[in-house]
Amino acid sequence: MLKRVVYGVGTRPELIRSAQICRLLDSDPDIKVTLLATGQHYDEDMWDIFMRELQVDVETISLAVRQSDPARQIAEILTGASQVLTDMQPRAVCVFGDTNSSLSLALAALKTGIDLVHIEAGCRSFDFRMQEEHNRRVIDHIAGLLLCLSPAALKNLQREQVPGRVVRIGDPQMDEFQRTSKALDAPDQDGDLPRGFLTLHRAENVDDPNHLLSILSVVADVGQIFGLRWTFPVHPRTRKNLPATLPGVIDLVSPLSYRETLLALRNSRICVTDSGGLQKDAYWSSVPTVTVRPSTEWIETLAGGRNRLVTHPIQLFDAVSSVLRDPPRFSSADGSPYGTGRGAEEAVLAISEWLDQGESL
Ligand code: UD1
Repeated sequence: MLKRVVYGVGTRPELIRSAQICRLLDSDPDIKVTLLATGQHYDEDMWDIFMRELQVDVETISLAVRQSDPARQIAEILTGASQVLTDMQPRAVCVFGDTNSSLSLALAALKTGIDLVHIEAGCRSFDFRMQEEHNRRVIDHIAGLLLCLSPAALKNLQREQVPGRVVRIGDPQMDEFQRTSKALDAPDQDGDLPRGFLTLHRAENVDDPNHLLSILSVVADVGQIFGLRWTFPVHPRTRKNLPATLPGVIDLVSPLSYRETLLALRNSRICVTDSGGLQKDAYWSSVPTVTVRPSTEWIETLAGGRNRLVTHPIQLFDAVSSVLRDPPRFSSADGSPYGTGRGAEEAVLAISEWLDQGESL
């Protein structure tokens, strides 16, 4: 009998990391996938361009929840998704990561009695100020199948004795990274100033305009000292709090597609970010990174100083200067702690075996 699987997504990184899993799952003759898009991200350049570029050609239902207050956002997605699941009665719901969409969809599965799969399970920042830390902990404890992507994540789940079945797979983001990178042009060799890549969207960095300005001033100062221009694709949350004029070495651009992001990274000497996924894209692109956060879920990227964590603008100045003066080395011989680019295949295999065995919590 055909098994229906609802795959829930709400934000652009979930879509990037889920694209190949959805394609592969849907190509299984025994499975039919429905993409359930919550509407957490909704602008053309935050959502539609990714749907087109990633060509996820499966049946899609949109909840169109346009809510930025977290509690109301979660409540509205939970209500809308529960109705869809009740009507559809799928065999399972899959969610990825730790966003408010992932949490709400997981709760909807729990409350409608549908089995839940959590992909990217076991990540922990141990920072309880982060909404994502609340979300991922709850999801891990209600999922029937947990697919985790790194040795550290596996250990976290073992320590917490989660009730579901845990399977380690490679990172599906790496599949999409490899697929998209293959089609990219060679790095720019023209005579422009060297470039850095800058992204900021976390509440703790961008919601206070004065703090945001102090981060941007530091980045601009280092750029001037080292003769570096910054490419700065701006998230809608950040745009609201930008100063009227930015220092001249920061080139503000609209949010980039995944392909454009990887191309910009490839042409950069350094990445400064507070994103989660970009830390891994930079690592795989051999671009040293300074992450403006007190912690990271991707601790494997920190080895050899390839990624450094900072919080205060003064630490940021020191870390960026030090990376530009003495860049860390990347070597393909180091391998990747995140698998070999077959994570989506491994995810689909684990999900279909689990569905066949009819396991649930
Ligand atoms: C969310 C995720 C974060 C992820 C990030 C990727 C949570 C708690 N956080 O953070 O883990 O790294 O997505 O980008 O789920 N907005 C728009 N247009 C859009 C999208 C957002 O204007 O297309 C505005 C929203 O109205 C809101 C703000 O940007 O005011 C923040 O959006 P939200 O989705 O709540 O959180 P992110 O910061 O994007």
